[in-house]
Amino acid sequence: MEPFKVSSPDSDIRLEFNLDENEAPFYKVYHKDKLVIDSSGLSFDFKNQASLGAGLNVLKTETSTVNETWQMPWGEQTEVANHYNELIVYLEEATETKRKFNIHFRVFNDGLGFRYDFPEQEHLQEVIITDENTEFNLTGDHKVWWIPGDWDIYEHVYNESKLSEIDALSKRDHPNLSATHIPENAVNTPVTMKTDEALYLSFHEADLTDYSGMTLKVDKDGLGLTSELVGSERLGGKVRLAAPFKTPWRTIQIAERAGDLIESKLILNLNEPNKIGDVSYFTPMKYVGIWWEMHIGKSTWDFEATQDMTTYTQGKASSKTHGANTKNAKRYIDFASEHGIKGLLVEGWNTGWNQWLSGDREGIFDFMTSYPDYNFEEVIAYAKAKGVEIIMHHETSAAPRTYEKQMDEAYNFMKKHGINSVKTGYVGKIIPEGEYHHGQYMVNHYHKVLEEAAKKKIAINAHEPIKATGKRRTYPNAIAREGLRGQEFNAWASDGGNPTSHLSTVAFTRMLSGPIDFTPGVFNIKMDGYKENNQINTTLAHQLALYVVIYSPIQMLCDLPEHYMENGQIHPMFQFLKDVGVDWEQTKVLDGEVGDFVIIAREERETGDWFVGGITDEHARNLQLNFDFLPEGTSFQAVIYKDGPDAHWDENPTDYAIETMDITSKSTLDVHLVAGGGFAISIKKN
Ligand code: NOJ
Ligand code: CA
Repeated sequence: MEPFKVSSPDSDIRLEFNLDENEAPFYKVYHKDKLVIDSSGLSFDFKNQASLGAGLNVLKTETSTVNETWQMPWGEQTEVANHYNELIVYLEEATETKRKFNIHFRVFNDGLGFRYDFPEQEHLQEVIITDENTEFNLTGDHKVWWIPGDWDIYEHVYNESKLSEIDALSKRDHPNLSATHIPENAVNTPVTMKTDEALYLSFHEADLTDYSGMTLKVDKDGLGLTSELVGSERLGGKVRLAAPFKTPWRTIQIAERAGDLIESKLILNLNEPNKIGDVSYFTPMKYVGIWWEMHIGKSTWDFEATQDMTTYTQGKASSKTHGANTKNAKRYIDFASEHGIKGLLVEGWNTGWNQWLSGDREGIFDFMTSYPDYNFEEVIAYAKAKGVEIIMHHETSAAPRTYEKQMDEAYNFMKKHGINSVKTGYVGKIIPEGEYHHGQYMVNHYHKVLEEAAKKKIAINAHEPIKATGKRRTYPNAIAREGLRGQEFNAWASDGGNPTSHLSTVAFTRMLSGPIDFTPGVFNIKMDGYKENNQINTTLAHQLALYVVIYSPIQMLCDLPEHYMENGQIHPMFQFLKDVGVDWEQTKVLDGEVGDFVIIAREERETGDWFVGGITDEHARNLQLNFDFLPEGTSFQAVIYKDGPDAHWDENPTDYAIETMDITSKSTLDVHLVAGGGFAISIKKN
């Protein structure tokens, strides 16, 4: 049979679908006529039912084209182009049972996605999927940036190796992870690769709804990846569904320039349009928090003051003060209000923290009751008077049933106090036992949180979340999430914290999936006075650059107010944190290489101001910037916040320099990035 073909609108990418000698479906992908995905199979195994994926007939095919633009209520850009060609293949078994499923392929200029669609039918009704076998067979031993296929957490350091050298099992049992399960030599997505011909590929999924998260099992000899869904011991399988149902999209981004991976909106385009309407109750913002002080051990979450981060990581007790007290909250509010920072997150305000890490975590947290030293009403009133918005915190300690029981009341309680967003957390092993953070049971819980919150006009920033798969298009109250090794690891990781190259890798991997609550902005880089054995492995200027490099509609200024001061004055580098935008009209990746460095320019919505951020790994570099992204014929004032001449991430991280100059779209600028360094530029019209 001649293959069925569908190409990208610009014809560069071509997908071919066919049946092999066993009437089993497979696909291939070409980029500019060169094979990038070799013959790759598509099949399913079920519990108590024959596998599906051979002996099939193609009943019919359909093709169509979509070319539209849509708008993001907040985001990296306002307008998003959605342009693709679609091929739908209708498949049916030749046997008597005639089980059927359809595959939808969508090919864009920046990659492709495909999903399985099971219509209602007689001989396939309720199923338990024991394996989805979607293959991605590669054409070489590509260089891969990967984290292990952990069923519970994404908080791993990225590794760079050849595909044939991936060893995910060596990442098991990291001492700082409160829940981790790596059953196979598999990787999590997004996973990004570079071929010998310098083509970039990134594999992920879009619209993960009522299904399990997908890891990718590594075939070192065959140089391929196969989907390995997160399982459930309670279910005895991977996914339980009843037809009709659709799987998430399996996605492959393809780019000739590393930066194009970041500019791609493929994952979002494969999600449904906004279905919750107006989300103006949430406005993108910067925020401070009673947070870092617990991580560095200055104070505790627990009122009884028996725990700190040592407890969190090693089970030891200590005695510190309780961070979330009325007086301290007011101190942060004063700071935020004085410097025009809109939000304040307060962790440890509610009862339950004395048992949040113990075995019995069900029914422990209470999301309405504050500790006696935290006068909720008083803090809310004070914040309101000072123009600061409180961000709620709900640590569930991975007990979703306890959370679901209180959700309705907890969200009403928030709204009653004028609180519009909440940071959630899921530290620990999931209760009930046998479920994992990334399995169908929890995917449905995280989804329920979004839906219930949307009904109450509440925005969600989830930590220990399910990965982002573009659902923020459909539910724009999904504002940000963690889902990576955040700044917190620098405070207490036993392995020395995030490597200097961390964010230069994250930008091309984790960030392709969506907004990140990384919580940048540490000024006390060496954590003087708190931590002898930990530090941030970047320069101060690198911390500033992260506000542009890492996209999120909420950006924390995570350090303590006193660390933003120098000799009784606000630190000169703090000015950039005050000025930098959080909501963008457009985004341009000026340059970058996965794991090495990245430079991003973003235009702020409404003001038309531009901000540029650049970071490097442990290697110093000289770069030349040009400003041809600026409108022609306009003069701008650029303030450049950069590493001082003697800066170095380890030896001298806080050496900095600030320079002001007039520029136009024709200007160029030489920048020197020191080892672990960075720069940030604010560009305003003269
Ligand atoms: C883990 C989160 O990532 C962190 O930000 C938070 O402080 C703790 N859980 C406590 O909820
Ligand atoms: Ca975390």
